[in-house]
Amino acid sequence: GKTSTFVNAANSDYARASQRDAVQAALIHVHRQLGQTYTPIINGDRVNPLEYSESLNPSQPEEVVGRVGLATIEDAEHAIRAAKAAQAQWQQTPVAERATLLRRAADLLEAQRHELVAWMCYEVGKVVAEGDAEVSEAVDFCRYYADEMERLSGGYDRNFPGETNHYHYQGRGIAVVISPWNFPLAIPTGMTVAALVSGNCTILKPADAAAVTAAKLAEILIAAGFPPGVFQFLPGRGSVIGPYLTKHPDVHLIAFTGSQEVGCRIIAEAAVLQRGQTHIKRVIAEMGGKNAIIIDESADLDQAVAGVVQSAFGYSGQKCSACSRVIVLESIYQPFVQRLVEATQSLNIGPAHLPSTRVGPVVTAAARDRIQEYIAKGQREAELALSVPVPPVGYFVSPTIFTNVPPTATIAQEEIFGPVLAVLRAETFSQAIEIANATAYALTGGLYSRTPSHIQQAKAQFAVGNLYINRGITGAIVDRQPFGGFKLSGIGSKAGGRDYLLQFLEPRVITENV
Ligand code: SER
Repeated sequence: GKTSTFVNAANSDYARASQRDAVQAALIHVHRQLGQTYTPIINGDRVNPLEYSESLNPSQPEEVVGRVGLATIEDAEHAIRAAKAAQAQWQQTPVAERATLLRRAADLLEAQRHELVAWMCYEVGKVVAEGDAEVSEAVDFCRYYADEMERLSGGYDRNFPGETNHYHYQGRGIAVVISPWNFPLAIPTGMTVAALVSGNCTILKPADAAAVTAAKLAEILIAAGFPPGVFQFLPGRGSVIGPYLTKHPDVHLIAFTGSQEVGCRIIAEAAVLQRGQTHIKRVIAEMGGKNAIIIDESADLDQAVAGVVQSAFGYSGQKCSACSRVIVLESIYQPFVQRLVEATQSLNIGPAHLPSTRVGPVVTAAARDRIQEYIAKGQREAELALSVPVPPVGYFVSPTIFTNVPPTATIAQEEIFGPVLAVLRAETFSQAIEIANATAYALTGGLYSRTPSHIQQAKAQFAVGNLYINRGITGAIVDRQPFGGFKLSGIGSKAGGRDYLLQFLEPRVITENV
């Protein structure tokens, strides 16, 4: 393979007036386009469904961001047939051509950067700076996987007198991508383009709450030149078309990011051989986290407080990478908690599109209600140290801190996916590591410490897919921090890393006696 020359896309620099003006103009421009209608795209055709779902602005729920057509089971079947018809040719399309389409998609994403930020801001309540980083990540996925597929495409040879052996990869077949709402652009982009560049015809089924942003992505992929049956867009009710797609005998590959419950259901469904099915499905599942940051007595508290606040409350804690537990050594517990509470109190909470907002709403009314139930439970299990006031309109949940949380409490064990932070005490550093590891998840983790032996111990014993030392635990960057966890957090794949595409590929060896 060739050496990688991959370079990460640069985020906007909002210290520059021109970039601030550009995103403000995009927010106004996109606001005028709210309420439009989007449809599934099957074999290149926009189909007109009987039913639509309304995507609302969580900062101002009276605003309909868009109406998105819901694909039926018949539509899903049409999509699979179209993919099947296109598969052989797509698989034979030279890697260079497939990679070119990814690079074109990256350029289109860059060209629409500010508009895409605005769509995410209105549809899922993501603040501008975080949306901007997400566009960069989507661009990175396209360019990185294009490079990666070119690196892998040559395979390798092991030749002997009278015998040649050629190892190489081919696409697996029809891929279904089931994407979440919390990174409504980057995650569907990453899974979809990985499947496509590997030679798999791909059907994207986005999360309902983020289907408009996904429709924007679908337009970009089609404009980049992916042919009709090769990429198809299939918004619909997860409970209806989800199982139909995952159980379908013609589907080879399912790439999923979302909850542990749904992920495990997909793995189970995909394992059952259907009538006429002559292959075993591959499932790539990235699921939840119950991520902890450990603070020891040698930590730089300014850094630690800032890192915990950003990791716990950035995007209202709605990241699988978010910090939902902070484990503090006894000797530093009081001063740390006091400063954590003060810093959280001063967070600016408001509608996501305002430049001053640090923390926006949560995604839907249902999410808000579910998080509130956890907060009610937390009040029975631990001490409520802080609940920040929030705006009356919109799906807001107060950034909430619980202290003296027992390690076995529900709020210390279950993924809440909201702005709720549990603070736990530890007597010793070893005990802190034990508490950190005592959940079913293993996604991200963090340590603030200036003690080399503690840093060493964490590297060896802190069981997470992504360990961050003396920094926040969210915001993994493609190629620099390949991202993904193990235990119930997923099956160990790392998005944006060197092993990722291998899951979308079938390796073959051809031996020839010569
Ligand atoms: N990759 C994201 C992060 O690191 C989570 O999906 O925050």
